[in-house]
Amino acid sequence: MKMLKTLLASAVVFSAMPALAYEGGDIIVKAGVITVAPKDGNADSSALVPGSELDAQNDTQLGLTAIYMVSPNFGVELLAATPFEHEVEGDGGAIDGATIATSKQLPPTVSAQYYPMGEGSKLQPYVGLGLNYTFFFDEKDDGNLGTNGLEPSWGMAYSAGIDYQLDEHWLVNASVWKMDIDTKIKGGAADGLDVEIDPLVYFVSAGYKF
Ligand code: NI
Repeated sequence: MKMLKTLLASAVVFSAMPALAYEGGDIIVKAGVITVAPKDGNADSSALVPGSELDAQNDTQLGLTAIYMVSPNFGVELLAATPFEHEVEGDGGAIDGATIATSKQLPPTVSAQYYPMGEGSKLQPYVGLGLNYTFFFDEKDDGNLGTNGLEPSWGMAYSAGIDYQLDEHWLVNASVWKMDIDTKIKGGAADGLDVEIDPLVYFVSAGYKF
């Protein structure tokens, strides 16, 4: 009898749990539009071209995130995307406005996330702290500087976002990451030149909770 009561009690507790809650073991997959917006002034090229710096331009691609909920309050997120392509323009001096280089990059990022609302909220804001690895490929030496690409980068990623659950499975999301992406130019006249991309990354997506 005692066991039956316990079972009944736990059944009542279980059925009282809101269907929209995130629970440990949930997997959430989101797809949407993602923009990488490098900070202004990514490299000081004044030693090569007086009065100039280099600016990497924004790019927008298809973004994907997958989140594994460890508990109602904690998740682990993986960020992926189709390759970004950034033009690098000269800013100032004799190279003002000229396209100096073009590079593709992928910035896979793993983050630990905290969801303060926990169970029972349709609205799920979160913050995340993560690690970013960025590698560059398909570099083009548009400015004929003899450069041979960019070194890969490891750095921290700070994120925040908000999910709004439409029903038991579907949700919409907006999120942002600040990534520390620092690299160096390889080869040619600019060999070893520090490049700080340190972008803001914006993502608007639709998600599905399994
Ligand atoms: Ni940096």
